[in-house]
Amino acid sequence: MTFTQKHLLGIEPLHPIEIAAVLDLADTYVDLNRRSDKRSDTLAGLTQINMFFENSTRTQASFELAGKRLGADVMNMAMQASSIKKGETLIDTALTLNAMHPDLLVVRHPHSGAVNLLAEKVNCAVLNAGDGKHEHPTQALLDALTIRRAKGRLHRLNIAICGDIAHSRVARSNIILLGKMENRIRLVGPPTLMPVQIDQFGVEVYDDMAEGLKDVDVVMMLRLQRERMDGGFIPSEREYYHRYGLDAEKLAHAKDDAIVMHPGPMNRGVEIDGTIADDINRSVIQEQVEMGVAVRMAAMDLLARNLRASREEKGVMA
Ligand code: NCD
Repeated sequence: MTFTQKHLLGIEPLHPIEIAAVLDLADTYVDLNRRSDKRSDTLAGLTQINMFFENSTRTQASFELAGKRLGADVMNMAMQASSIKKGETLIDTALTLNAMHPDLLVVRHPHSGAVNLLAEKVNCAVLNAGDGKHEHPTQALLDALTIRRAKGRLHRLNIAICGDIAHSRVARSNIILLGKMENRIRLVGPPTLMPVQIDQFGVEVYDDMAEGLKDVDVVMMLRLQRERMDGGFIPSEREYYHRYGLDAEKLAHAKDDAIVMHPGPMNRGVEIDGTIADDINRSVIQEQVEMGVAVRMAAMDLLARNLRASREEKGVMA
């Protein structure tokens, strides 16, 4: 077994071989998802609970669809309406859910580290769907699959990650993953939106788009995460777009065949020009969404195999 994880809490603990295992399996799920009959019984009999303590459109829908296509019983907990509002702690909620015997728990939470804490309290596989500014592992894996399919490889590429890096768990997980796969990473954005201790990341840092995008293979744009900002990080959205928004002129500095990525949700006219986002010759934003379902199917499949194996070992029927 090449994928040995019990949970998917971040990219940090993954070995490059495990990353490749997820992507290889995800490739097969891309094919399944393109057929008219998309059913599989890989997760039949298992229960998947999605707990989103933060708003989400595509990630939650993607996890729900992934579980249903694999035959799991999927339940979405409406966390806004739940006991959390009545003051129940995260751990109490987790223990309550645990008593219902879920097999897969998908969790998004505004606090960094909350998902790791929860994973210690339950006896099922936990998938991190984004925790604060910490990690968003399935996003980095789907980005990796998108890059690998578009470029034919996932190593020795020049990749620019641009915009609000400081508040982005997507950037963090991508920096870790792409670094493990031996790519050259550039972070491009205003100094106020760069994380502290940037020198520990092993990346090059630019505050000028023309320089930062020069000859890159991949341009990854990020949303300005205003909900995580507590002050004036940028002068104005107009000024930001002028200096850092991706338009045709700035993209011209990248390689002719460079691809444009964005995890969504996009702010058109703030970090990216709408025409570039919609340009099917450059933008792979829709492919990212498609790869998202396949990568989540692969991750849940691999975790379920390990879960079943460990239960069998303990003598509990899976
Ligand atoms: C990202 C997230 O929630 O971290 N979105 C996503 O998962 N599709 C990025 C963002 O919110 O900007």
